[in-house]
Amino acid sequence: MRNFTFLLLVYLSFFLGEGYSQQKNNDKRENKPMWWKEAVVYQLYPRSFKDSDGDGVGDLKGIISKLDYLKSLGIDAVWLNPIFSSPNDDNGYDISDYRNIMKEFGTMNDFDELLAGLHKRNIKLVLDMVLNHSSDEHEWFKQAKSSRSNPYRNYYHWWPEEKGKPTPRYSFFDVNSDAWKYDATTKSYYLHYFSQKQPDLNWENEKLRNEVYDMMKFWLDKGIDGLRMDAFQYVSKDTTWKKYPLGYEKDIIKYYGMGPNLHQYLKEMNTKVISKYNIMTVAEGAGSTLEDAHSLVDEDRQELNMAYHFEIMDIGNDPKGYQLTDLKKAFSKWDQAFAKKGWLAIFLANHDVPRMVSKYGNDSPEFRRFSSKLLTTLIMTMRGTPFYFNGDELGMSNIKFDKIEDYRDIATINAYKSAKAKGENLDSFMDKQKFISRDNTRTPFQWNNSLNAGFTTGTPWIKVNPNYKTVNVAVEEKDPESELFYFKKMVALRKSSPVLVYGDYEVFDIENPDVYCYTRMHGAAKMLVVLNFSAKSISYPLDKGINTTEARVLMNNYKTQATILNHQVDLKPLQALVFQLN
Ligand code: BGC
Repeated sequence: MRNFTFLLLVYLSFFLGEGYSQQKNNDKRENKPMWWKEAVVYQLYPRSFKDSDGDGVGDLKGIISKLDYLKSLGIDAVWLNPIFSSPNDDNGYDISDYRNIMKEFGTMNDFDELLAGLHKRNIKLVLDMVLNHSSDEHEWFKQAKSSRSNPYRNYYHWWPEEKGKPTPRYSFFDVNSDAWKYDATTKSYYLHYFSQKQPDLNWENEKLRNEVYDMMKFWLDKGIDGLRMDAFQYVSKDTTWKKYPLGYEKDIIKYYGMGPNLHQYLKEMNTKVISKYNIMTVAEGAGSTLEDAHSLVDEDRQELNMAYHFEIMDIGNDPKGYQLTDLKKAFSKWDQAFAKKGWLAIFLANHDVPRMVSKYGNDSPEFRRFSSKLLTTLIMTMRGTPFYFNGDELGMSNIKFDKIEDYRDIATINAYKSAKAKGENLDSFMDKQKFISRDNTRTPFQWNNSLNAGFTTGTPWIKVNPNYKTVNVAVEEKDPESELFYFKKMVALRKSSPVLVYGDYEVFDIENPDVYCYTRMHGAAKMLVVLNFSAKSISYPLDKGINTTEARVLMNNYKTQATILNHQVDLKPLQALVFQLN
């Protein structure tokens, strides 16, 4: 009976997703050192970073003028959101020419200068490859929709009207959530998982794939150092177009992600392109299970090298708050599963989610600064490559627009139209957007307290957060207690501590609802991280198994001294502490 129970538990834990990681952990091969594992990546949203010509839109010359700022952060790589030609239906994620620079952002000469300027400062450059779809203004699509016999027709997915209505497919951005758009010229529907201006590319077509690979080589031959693969988990479609069960859109990644030929395409891309360069490749989205993520990034599979999974991002979307235990469990589960094999990106924010301090922290005037430093500590002390979103180093928070007219994001605008059409409560819709809209992270970078936070001399494409008077680079560069100073110190600590990059992670007291406590250990080196996520003071008893006899404080987001007395540490609200244990 005991044996049976044991087997049942093993069986259950395997199918609940734990078994895979256990099994992988028995594999004793350590993670091989790689430059991209040791890098701190800074995500830079070009549209909102710095405008050089007064048109209200950030540009490449603007970034060039701030290269020394980037250097001062101590980061190793910059990931730029798309900079290619685009009509900007989805802020550059709708590309009309993959080999050219968006007019508002500048020219190819500006790009070359930017790349050289970054490299001169030892900073690498990662570009965003949007390969699931193009813009409907791309020449391929213009050709494709001109006639059914056009040679480019097969670059996209079409459904001829004589076959009747297409099998329903969900669209993330469409007002009616309908991913099929009727095109009268050729009496057919085309597929768009995102907006109507973002038709999905047909990856089943080898010709299209080869064109894409050539385009990737064009950029890699210029010397860029990495690729972020936008929405790549969706490229391979089930072209039998079978019907999905009712409500499938609630579990969309299961239906859209990891399509039948995805691995075949990735292996082909790896052989033809990736393997020829020493670059970092990041999969945006990593399927819906740990196994999916492993299948994308394990070294022996020769596909991509880092997974950017969504489980943590999916926590904390409720304005009423979230459970810290959920966050701890998600971080711990993924860490365990990737302890020996594969590699993860670590992040709490990007251009698709709200500001980290508003989402996972406490953005009240009293606690915003502490909270921001605490979250920075978390990102910089986890195993995996940190991806840190621009502006978070200043403690920038959600703008929380009151009026729909202030929003610029197609996702929010179309969701509003849809809510209105369905007669939903628009006040509660607007309240929710203050918390979740992507525009919250897209507001202009706050350089100083002059007009428009020093971002532009013109009218910014999206409003500046009014807190720029106090939350900005100029003020924070002069204040040793600022979030910016703290960020730089944290980056420097990470860069000088292999234990923070490669060390084993062990979590303690996982059910504690207020405190996140873990150690990192690598050879003889050991660090302890204690994070009080709550707004109350706590006397926190450390786990007996943690040897603190030689503990000394490395990072503290309060000025007051922190000590461990009788195996207990007194934590102030939102306090973050990092100790060296030996
Ligand atoms: C990007 C989004 C974009 C979408 C469509 C995402 O994963 O990060 O900003 O809207 O892909 O390209």
